[in-house]
Amino acid sequence: MTVTNPVPTTPLTGTAVALHDVHKTYRNGAAVTAALRGVSLSLQAGSLTAVVGQSGSGKSTLLHCAAGLDRPTRGAVVIGGHDISALSDDDLTRFRRDHIGFVFQAYNLVGHLSVRDNIELPLILAGRGADPDWAAHLVERMDLRALLDRLPGELSGGQAQRVAIARALITRPTVVFADEPTGALDSATGAAVLGLLRDTARDLGQTVVIVTHDSRVAAAAEQVLVLSDGLLVDTLETPRADEVTARVLAAGR
Ligand SMILES: Nc1ncnc2c1ncn2[C@@H]1O[C@H](COP(=O)(O)OP(=O)(O)OP(=O)(O)O)[C@@H](O)[C@H]1O
Ligand SMILES: [Mg+2]
Repeated sequence: MTVTNPVPTTPLTGTAVALHDVHKTYRNGAAVTAALRGVSLSLQAGSLTAVVGQSGSGKSTLLHCAAGLDRPTRGAVVIGGHDISALSDDDLTRFRRDHIGFVFQAYNLVGHLSVRDNIELPLILAGRGADPDWAAHLVERMDLRALLDRLPGELSGGQAQRVAIARALITRPTVVFADEPTGALDSATGAAVLGLLRDTARDLGQTVVIVTHDSRVAAAAEQVLVLSDGLLVDTLETPRADEVTARVLAAGR
């Protein structure tokens, strides 16, 4: 089934991300896993959203489908007014490069490239030149100036994650998705990385979506989506951390 797209094409002031009845089913031989079972949502441009839920509830699957890294089994994903479900593989790759930033839990930096080259890699892949002012701003903001010539293997976890965030923002994407961006960090470093993402969302009007296990991280978001067994079961507005924890536990897997 293809869902028609009623979302207006106003990426910067209206809806940045919309999912319409998104399903994702994994098949491994005879085994079938319904990871998403009909998720619809709409995220305002400039908002910071956290996605929470117990392990296996479908958070990463949701993020990968919303970011165009994976295709829903059915349903539609609309980014900045573009229905990406309808794109060919090549067009989807191009769209991702131009409009979507992704921060992986394991950073995914390229080991033989310097910090500077890692940050600019999305521009190189897209065949676009760097905006020197924007690049300098990100480097300052992420406190990376002294590290630009290092290799990823010479960085701490928090430094590597700041590089990954700068890389995700370098193209000024319509939306940045981050899967457990603080998961591998100690709590102080995680809080600093989260603060950077939150300030970025606020100051730059950047739409950010974070998957997290950590209720304190989720409590920094304006909106918290609770997933359970492939369904969106709750939406909390600026909740406290203990409220997030209670809802996740109540929702179950
Ligand atoms: N490639 C895959 N093939 C088969 N099943 C998969 C695949 N990826 C995920 N799943 C299944 O889909 C469900 C949702 O997985 P997902 O990774 O989205 O959960 P999650 O909420 O991100 O969990 P966690 O908090 O542990 O990261 C799980 O039952 C998982 O086993
Ligand atoms: Mg996950």
